[in-house]
Amino acid sequence: MSKSLQAIRGMNDILPEQTPLWRHFEGTVARLLDNYGYKQIRMPIVEFTELFKRSIGEVTDIVEKEMYTFDDRNGDSLTLRPEGTAACVRAVLEHGITGGGQVQKLWYVGPMFRHERPQKGRYRQFHQIGLEVFNLDGPDIDAELIVLTWRLWGELGIRDAVKLELNSLGTSESRGRYREALVAFLSTHLDKLDEDSQRRLKTNPLRVLDTKNADTQAILTDAPKMADYLDEESRLHFEGLKARLDAVGIPYVINPKLVRGLDYYSKTVFEWVTDKLGAQGTVCAGGRYDGLVEQMGGKPTPGVGFAMGIERLVLMLETLEQIPEEISRQVDVYLCAFGEAAELAGLALAERVRDQLPNLRLQVNAGAGSFKSQFKKADKSGALYALILGDDEMAQQVVGFKPLRGQGEQQSIAWDALAAHLATCIVQG
Ligand code: HAM
Repeated sequence: MSKSLQAIRGMNDILPEQTPLWRHFEGTVARLLDNYGYKQIRMPIVEFTELFKRSIGEVTDIVEKEMYTFDDRNGDSLTLRPEGTAACVRAVLEHGITGGGQVQKLWYVGPMFRHERPQKGRYRQFHQIGLEVFNLDGPDIDAELIVLTWRLWGELGIRDAVKLELNSLGTSESRGRYREALVAFLSTHLDKLDEDSQRRLKTNPLRVLDTKNADTQAILTDAPKMADYLDEESRLHFEGLKARLDAVGIPYVINPKLVRGLDYYSKTVFEWVTDKLGAQGTVCAGGRYDGLVEQMGGKPTPGVGFAMGIERLVLMLETLEQIPEEISRQVDVYLCAFGEAAELAGLALAERVRDQLPNLRLQVNAGAGSFKSQFKKADKSGALYALILGDDEMAQQVVGFKPLRGQGEQQSIAWDALAAHLATCIVQG
């Protein structure tokens, strides 16, 4: 017997009962970003492998062990994008849209791919909504990114369940000086570090700060602090950001160990975390990457951005039961027709109504059926009203209008008056 085909582990179908909540989330974000003046950009899902190696960094978990990389038929090494920033930088450079200091405020949405160990909130294909801003170097724009996420959490009803963590990594020079001090300190404790941290000490020492190992964490309490090595410019930038968050009243905690898993960051880094999702608690993360565009072959161009994980945020809406009632109803009116002549008249009538009420969610029965079975389908659809077209209604050129939820008698409405009548009964989305 042939083995039945299944989806790849960590890559999920998003089923029809889940998509209304996804669309609610994505729609809320899209509207907010429009209102703050961000424009959408769409990049390919596959890029040359070199792009990710050069931007994310050769010695990061993503590039070392998580990329879906393959040779295509030309022998080019390609990779399914593990994140969006690299491709966005490639795109703005390729099209010259950040040249001459042009400000770009961009956003994107779509699937990303990382070969991680799947668990709740962590998948191999997951979805991000990301933002990238180019050619603005002040703390005002860092603050705007955080302010708009704060508003988003408010609109979604999850503000009380998320916490903002902030840090500044400084410029690459000050980070270099700090790295030296950290390596010197950790080298004196080498034999007490866990294996992973010993390896990171050689390849990417700042990532040791990120360790989950309790013994290494204990050693780190006496380690040099990044804040003591910050250059004056980065310190002022960070103060400017904090002052703006204070002005809006957004609470935050400074986490000196927040270093992020991608190499391109400088100055501000931040994460929105929650304790509602278990181990995978970061729902949105990002920071400034002032050196990245130049590193990718462009002119020096400051950049800042973040990405949020849609699966994690949808999971949070479910966990906190923040699911608006209106998104679960997908049908306003269900039209039942009995007999061929009524079916034809019903089809034409439905189209006339749709012409007049483009937002009406009107479902026409398909597959014929008895009075009882069509009524059952109308009820199951969740519709507020059923429209009924049988022999009697055909003879009088009316339609039966029957409330399905709550009170009210069935009435007869003339075909010509139907759209106007529906408009008075149904608040359209
Ligand atoms: P990241 O921290 O790698 O940053 O990912 C951002 C968010 O994507 C995470 O906070 C999480 O919510 C979600 N995420 C990441 N991996 C997974 C996974 N395996 N399963 C489910 N969700 C996941 C970036 O990707 C940067 N490009 C963000 C950025 C934009 N920085 C500047 N601009």
